[in-house]
Amino acid sequence: MTNSSKPSASRQLKVKVKTAKRRSNSSTRWLQRQLNDPYVARAREEGYQSRAAFKLIELNEKHKLLRPGMRVVDLGCAPGGWLQVAVPLIRSTPDNPTIVGIDYLEMSPIPGSIILQKDFNDEDAPQVLIDAIGGKKVDLVMSDMAAPTTGHKPTDHIRIIALVELAADFAMDILTPGGTFIAKVFQGGTEHTLLTALKKRFATTFHAKPPASRKDSAETYLVAKGFKG
Ligand SMILES: C[S@@+](CC[C@H](N)C(=O)[O-])C[C@H]1O[C@@H](n2cnc3c(N)ncnc32)[C@H](O)[C@@H]1O
Repeated sequence: MTNSSKPSASRQLKVKVKTAKRRSNSSTRWLQRQLNDPYVARAREEGYQSRAAFKLIELNEKHKLLRPGMRVVDLGCAPGGWLQVAVPLIRSTPDNPTIVGIDYLEMSPIPGSIILQKDFNDEDAPQVLIDAIGGKKVDLVMSDMAAPTTGHKPTDHIRIIALVELAADFAMDILTPGGTFIAKVFQGGTEHTLLTALKKRFATTFHAKPPASRKDSAETYLVAKGFKG
């Protein structure tokens, strides 16, 4: 695996997808985008479970998030791209794993990490995560979770915000002073309130959109560094 973030030139040819009888227009569009996405091709070439891996690679290159010896929690870790990126950078090993991931989806093991198949909304999820990391404080909490959408915009918005707030509360319980919290958020609205709260507890907070995050997506990442404890 390499850590460079330039899409390979090997897959620049545009693939056109014909609309099949049983395929909806939106799934045809999705398929076409996947087939023409250089990050999808690179993930396959470099053995990453997801194109999301490149978002963490790029965020890390720019904001220096991962260092050897760190303890890390990865919220919404399936199918494991972020774990694959983080494990070698923090030097987590199968004998002494220092990164724990949680997701309600089943996924293949990622050597050097502990994976919990569980809903982060479960009441006992924070304690189960803390136990899995040996009851110790951690240096980084990263969340790539996105609540499933219902199509009803106000409901979706509330769910997205609630999940990020839950992740932020958890981070503030488990982070060591100086620690970092990053979370996927969606532009537009209430997330401002959360930002204000985080500004009080962290030395620096800002939004970052890595190049691997699709331009037409409202997704961006909230980065909070220097937890004050
Ligand atoms: C964009 S994917 C994460 C990709 C991952 N970072 C990677 O690199 O492979 C978002 C994940 O969040 C998970 N997720 C969403 N809500 C969750 C919850 N309440 N508890 C646990 N996982 C959740 C989803 O199942 C999904 O696998």
